[in-house]
Amino acid sequence: MFQFTSLFALTALAAATSAAPSSGDCTGTISSLDDVAAAVKCITVVINSFTVPAGETLNLNLLSGSTVTMSGDVTFGNKTWAGPLFQVSGTNINCKSKLCASLLNSPSSTCVLVNGNGHTFDGNGPFYWDGQGGNGGVTKPAPMMKIKISGTFTNVKVLNSPARTYSVSNPAALTISKLTIDNSLGDQPNSKSGGKAAGHNTDGFDCSTTDLVIEDSTIMNQDDCLAINKGSNITFQRNTCSGGHGISVGSISSDVTVSNINIIGNTVINNDQALRIKTKADATDSTVSGITYTGNTATGMREFGVLIDQSYPDTLGTPGTGVKLSGVNFVGAQNTISVNSGAQRVAVNCGSGSCTGSWDWSALTVTGGSAGKIVNFSGIKNFSQ
Ligand SMILES: *[C@@H]1O[C@H](CO)[C@@H](O)[C@H](O)[C@H]1NC(C)=O
Ligand SMILES: *[C@@H]1O[C@H](CO)[C@@H](O)[C@H](O)[C@H]1NC(C)=O
Ligand SMILES: *[C@@H]1O[C@H](CO)[C@@H](O)[C@H](O)[C@H]1NC(C)=O
Repeated sequence: MFQFTSLFALTALAAATSAAPSSGDCTGTISSLDDVAAAVKCITVVINSFTVPAGETLNLNLLSGSTVTMSGDVTFGNKTWAGPLFQVSGTNINCKSKLCASLLNSPSSTCVLVNGNGHTFDGNGPFYWDGQGGNGGVTKPAPMMKIKISGTFTNVKVLNSPARTYSVSNPAALTISKLTIDNSLGDQPNSKSGGKAAGHNTDGFDCSTTDLVIEDSTIMNQDDCLAINKGSNITFQRNTCSGGHGISVGSISSDVTVSNINIIGNTVINNDQALRIKTKADATDSTVSGITYTGNTATGMREFGVLIDQSYPDTLGTPGTGVKLSGVNFVGAQNTISVNSGAQRVAVNCGSGSCTGSWDWSALTVTGGSAGKIVNFSGIKNFSQ
């Protein structure tokens, strides 16, 4: 078996190397980590099914305009280390691949394409999960997936990430679509989690970036579905978030700006809260503005419908005043949220004077549970609970 594998790898390497890599006009096939260096000299890259050895990253530093497709599932060996397990970088400048332009059915200027064809990156979460995520226990590869491309990243499935799943820092416009993150197995306790859910801090997407769209994806996890830590021009639309901590702006630290964030048409099921903005109590000199919620639906919220809290990491503790928050609007198609009995519908906890302006909440309906408090802010219009 070993001999067969290495022979196969050598064959693939030879094929990749012999196919005129200088122009990039070749196909590089990856069937082991040994194939990567030669394969990424080609503008067309195919990933076959294989196991990435424990403690190593499948790292694709692509030529401009590359197309990467998966033709099989990739799994990662077990090792307690920081990761990431997968990283892809590359930009859309000087795109020359006709193939990827036709696959994308869009202008070639956005044609770095990673298409998983529905195949899976399996992080082997159960090996790491101990109910503590990034807060303790063994070191877990986090993030599992580091995305540093512009263009398109689509149709990839991640199974059982050890902790945080995707970190996204695109150098130019990027659309992420049709992904599945399935960490639902982590909802169950295991022998190491002391009765708690074994998966913890399994964020779907952590984004500190601009010009990003994430759409038509399904996220099943035990932490934020989306967390925007800084950045602008981010649209999160038509996704389904199940089991976790909802769609979050934050947590916001010092000296960051967040603006023009659009959260549209998502479905949130059985999360702690549906829609949250969390800014750190000790943060200074930060600004969050232009957060728009349209047409989102949530059912089965366990703690809050909408939570805007300037006391993070506390919940509804003493708020800080170092993050200026403005322009938080629920407009357009109705946002419809239902919370469990025992949960609060809407809680807003602002530092003195740090929430400002007039916020239009005309397209928000929250039912169930009890009303929460709105502290230190009177700018919410067209809404009562
Ligand atoms: C990794 O750990 C998981 C869960 O403990 C186990 O099922 C799997 O077989 C392990 N994989 C390897 C390659 O040892
Ligand atoms: C954000 O989008 C606006 C309007 O589409 C555009 O003018 C601006 O350049 C974008 N900013 C960034 C940082 O991408
Ligand atoms: C902020 O809220 C707290 C708690 O309700 C209150 O004691 C304080 O006076 C408020 N500050 C302002 C400026 O409204």
